[in-house]
Amino acid sequence: MAPRPPTSRPVLRAVLNAAVAFFLMQRGLLLLLLDTFRWLRLRYVWLKPRPTDIYISTFPKAGTTWMQQIVYQLLTRGRGEYEHILQVAPFVDMLALMPNGERLLDGLAEPRILKTHLRYGALRPPRNSRIIYVTRAAADSILSRFHHNCLMHGSQLDFDGFFREQVGNNEWAKHLASWWPHRNDPNVLHIRYADLIADRETCLRRIGAFLGIPVADEDLPLLMEKTGFEHMKQNDFRFDPRLTIYEPLAPGRGFVFKGGVGRGKQALKPEQQARLDARVNTVRQKLGITDDAF
Ligand code: A3P
Repeated sequence: MAPRPPTSRPVLRAVLNAAVAFFLMQRGLLLLLLDTFRWLRLRYVWLKPRPTDIYISTFPKAGTTWMQQIVYQLLTRGRGEYEHILQVAPFVDMLALMPNGERLLDGLAEPRILKTHLRYGALRPPRNSRIIYVTRAAADSILSRFHHNCLMHGSQLDFDGFFREQVGNNEWAKHLASWWPHRNDPNVLHIRYADLIADRETCLRRIGAFLGIPVADEDLPLLMEKTGFEHMKQNDFRFDPRLTIYEPLAPGRGFVFKGGVGRGKQALKPEQQARLDARVNTVRQKLGITDDAF
């Protein structure tokens, strides 16, 4: 075994560790406050509730995206198309963090479909909204969330540590405890993920009846296709949470876009170009950089 190096600078180490811990705690508290105020701004100023609003309320990984697709397809009789599901059924908890959140909410067609993972007490859904509340077994949700986190991190995480953390923070149970007493409220429809798996057709009819859009027999085949696992798997990019595309992009847009030299200059207004030139020229002079250096 390699000998352990002696602890270097023990006093400085202790002081800096304490400073980092102190500021991490302050940052945690500030972020909590910031998120709370962002949410209050969205809920009580930006949202402007409409009586036709439809909330999809779930604990993460309970089949939220599936329900977003189901509701949107029911509303469009299976003919609804979009680049990304968030364009037609946005995640309100996320909109609260976005500077253009209010504009996106205002621009949604009626009825708005709003996804949320918030607990009942935080959402305080308006009495006249309609809410579809989806539940899924804890173990399935936790495993699904583990895969989700690996995807978001882009690497394989440690499942045992993740499981300990999930059971420790008890978030699944807290979410359930907040929504369960409301599952039979007149404006709430409770759907189990397991029922969707076992008999989707009956669930589609229940959801359609609840939303006042009964499923016509001639629409059923298309609805079953569009809400089926295979279709959603083939259209994965329309549901992938890493691609949060809230508004349609120009055709042909993507990560590898156009490349090339000079497009930036053409896109700038003369006054923007002048401001940028002034900045660049200052640093050029300072560093002695000649014209085509970069
Ligand atoms: P798994 O990770 O267990 O596969 P959410 O949308 O709340 O994040 O939930 C995601 C889970 O719903 C994933 O579960 C995903 O596979 C599942 N799901 C999404 N669309 C589905 C569909 N059409 N049929 C069955 N499960 C679906």
